[in-house]
Amino acid sequence: MEIHIVEDADAGATVVADVFTRTVQEAGDPGAVLGLATGSSPIPAYAELIRRHREEGLSFAGSRAFLLDEYVGLTAGHEQSYHRFIRENFIEQVDIDDAAVVSPDGAAIDPIAEAASYDRRIAEAGGVDLQILGIGSNGHIAFNEPGSSLNSRTRVVGLSRSTIQDNSRYFDSAADVPVRALSQGLGTILEARRIVLTATSAGKAAAIAQLVEGAISSRWPATVLQLHPDVVVVVDEAAGAQLQLAEDYRYARRLEIENPLDVTQG
Ligand code: F6R
Repeated sequence: MEIHIVEDADAGATVVADVFTRTVQEAGDPGAVLGLATGSSPIPAYAELIRRHREEGLSFAGSRAFLLDEYVGLTAGHEQSYHRFIRENFIEQVDIDDAAVVSPDGAAIDPIAEAASYDRRIAEAGGVDLQILGIGSNGHIAFNEPGSSLNSRTRVVGLSRSTIQDNSRYFDSAADVPVRALSQGLGTILEARRIVLTATSAGKAAAIAQLVEGAISSRWPATVLQLHPDVVVVVDEAAGAQLQLAEDYRYARRLEIENPLDVTQG
């Protein structure tokens, strides 16, 4: 894992946007397959990508995207649906074709069949080149709550009490938060070729410490990312505050900047 401890959300957004930019530019034709997260964590990175699109000509033309999850029972047009969230916060402001942005259908009559077909649709697109993730205060990624199988696939999941509490800020009350979601599984997420996870604030500090330095366990689902070969973790000081080896990660990043790898040298 490559751990970046940065000053604030804006500095984090730059690091995350750099990973996106590299992936989009490397993909060439027919474009990258992006795995998109919703929630508050990726918003500064999306804002930075929108800025690069407007001011620096970064193009997402030809890219396709798959969302991580969707609430069961919400239609695409519902004001709290993730389908709508990603359009308002990212897609409508860059040049990705709206039809190329796919999310699980929360209003599907048969959510179990909807979940079962989702991994197949990702595979048919050639798999995800870059997955961006947030993390729940309980260590979930997507809606893989504690206790999730480390090899789980996209499926219908029940939301934990802490997630319903955390997400109630977007609804009138906790009672209005849907109790289920369609969520990519941990095994699905691990198939992405590159992953960048971003978190800010003290509320994420315990989950980040477990993700980076804890034992791999479904108690903290994000720990499964330790098995992935290409993960970048970007946290602010508060979210990184419980990392025991924080100074080592800072040292490693400094050394990299001071000694860039020259692949052209024989
Ligand atoms: C969102 C998602 C969730 C969030 C997590 C953190 O698509 O899958 O796992 O990333 O709940 O949410 P925020 O960023 O709002 O703190």
